[in-house]
Amino acid sequence: MMVDDLPAVLAVQRLAYGDAYQEAAEVLDAKRQRSPAACWVACDAEGMAGYVFAHDWPGDTPPPLHVALPPAGASSSGFLHDLAVVPRAHGCGLGAALFSAVQQWSVAAGHEALTLVSLDSAVGYWRRAGFSPVVPADASALAAYGDGACFMRRSLKR
Ligand SMILES: CC(C)(COP(=O)(O)OP(=O)(O)OC[C@H]1O[C@@H](n2cnc3c(N)ncnc32)[C@H](O)[C@@H]1OP(=O)(O)O)[C@@H](O)C(=O)NCCC(=O)NCCS
Repeated sequence: MMVDDLPAVLAVQRLAYGDAYQEAAEVLDAKRQRSPAACWVACDAEGMAGYVFAHDWPGDTPPPLHVALPPAGASSSGFLHDLAVVPRAHGCGLGAALFSAVQQWSVAAGHEALTLVSLDSAVGYWRRAGFSPVVPADASALAAYGDGACFMRRSLKR
């Protein structure tokens, strides 16, 4: 993902989530810049069809939403911030391919685990990808993600 991709990323986000969930371009770009090798886009003949944002993050509490993140330090985990695919491309394996790219980045970075915050409706998807719900060290950090949000973790240890 490059900075010039962000307008199309925001269009994909709108198609995937509707108008209720839309992040500011500068907040998304701060996440991209934190771990550029962990952010990917997927395209089909009609244009951008999916994206994923991930970045380094200490593993025991989800990061704050809608604000720039504090500077990166040494981290034993990766955090998958958002993965979305437009409805026209659902079921074609783009979600799995984007997740696989993040997983390879995280393993190469020497992380012990990947974490994410799942929407209630996507918990089953992430369970299939090997994630399990965990209680965050700071439960108040999860509240900002909305009702039904679930903090999940997948170990990368063999
Ligand atoms: C979840 C999402 C990324 C999946 O993308 P995708 O490219 O369609 O996924 P894949 O093609 O890799 O996988 C499709 C499989 O996942 C299953 N699946 C898709 N969404 C699911 C969900 N919410 N819960 C459980 N299973 C789900 C499909 O039924 C399909 O199963 P099959 O292989 O047995 O047929 C996509 O539906 C999406 O963008 N949803 C809206 C945004 C969202 O919820 N993102 C997750 C944020 S936490």
